[in-house]
Amino acid sequence: MQLLKQGAEADIYVTEWHGKKAVSKVRSPKAYRHEALDSAVRRQRTVHEAHLMSAAKAAGVSTPFVHFVDPDNAEILMEFVQGKQAKDALDVKMCMQIGRYAALLHGANIIHGDLTTSNFIVNNRLVLLDFGLSYYSERMEDMAVDVRLIKEVFTSAHVGLRGAFPAFVRGYGSVAGKKKTSQILANVKEIEQRGRYARVE
Ligand SMILES: Nc1ncnc2c1ncn2[C@@H]1O[C@H](COP(=O)(O)OP(=O)(O)O)[C@@H](O)[C@H]1O
Ligand SMILES: [Mg+2]
Repeated sequence: MQLLKQGAEADIYVTEWHGKKAVSKVRSPKAYRHEALDSAVRRQRTVHEAHLMSAAKAAGVSTPFVHFVDPDNAEILMEFVQGKQAKDALDVKMCMQIGRYAALLHGANIIHGDLTTSNFIVNNRLVLLDFGLSYYSERMEDMAVDVRLIKEVFTSAHVGLRGAFPAFVRGYGSVAGKKKTSQILANVKEIEQRGRYARVE
């Protein structure tokens, strides 16, 4: 197996599955955690992440196909998605599609938790990765945290791309409807204002 990326929590390897290129996401043991607790935590997070990948797919969001989950080894074996990270190929149309995806997730009460342009791969379609921080919630405030993060990414990593966030909002609105979208945007504003006050203090 070839190491593709070493993360804080998991390592990504490129491997094969029945002759096809595949990705193995393995949560590595953490020495600072008690051994039995550590293996329970890794097991639980692995199962949780794989479950949310499938739930997202059921909600209409394109995610890598999961070949198998091995809770004992904290491993998810999934389809290798060929393509660039959205962060290196972002355009306005893609921002709109990201908005649609976010609204589909939120419609299923799934909060992605790390909605950045690094976690999307583009080929013909847009594929959303990394459900390691995802969870279920019905709260608009939690949905707004997803929206606020991608907005922040658009205005920091993609300053040159004009109209990115408005396009996201159009995509989001086309799925979630006007009422929910404006409620969530109001929540985003509130979070941003809170951040501003916190900085002044
Ligand atoms: N199924 C996949 N196909 C292709 N590349 C992947 C796949 N899964 C992960 N990657 C690559 O590995 C990187 C890290 O994976 P990710 O699941 O986001 O882990 P982390 O939690 O460390 O951010 C991604 O940004 C992507 O470039
Ligand atoms: Mg990631």
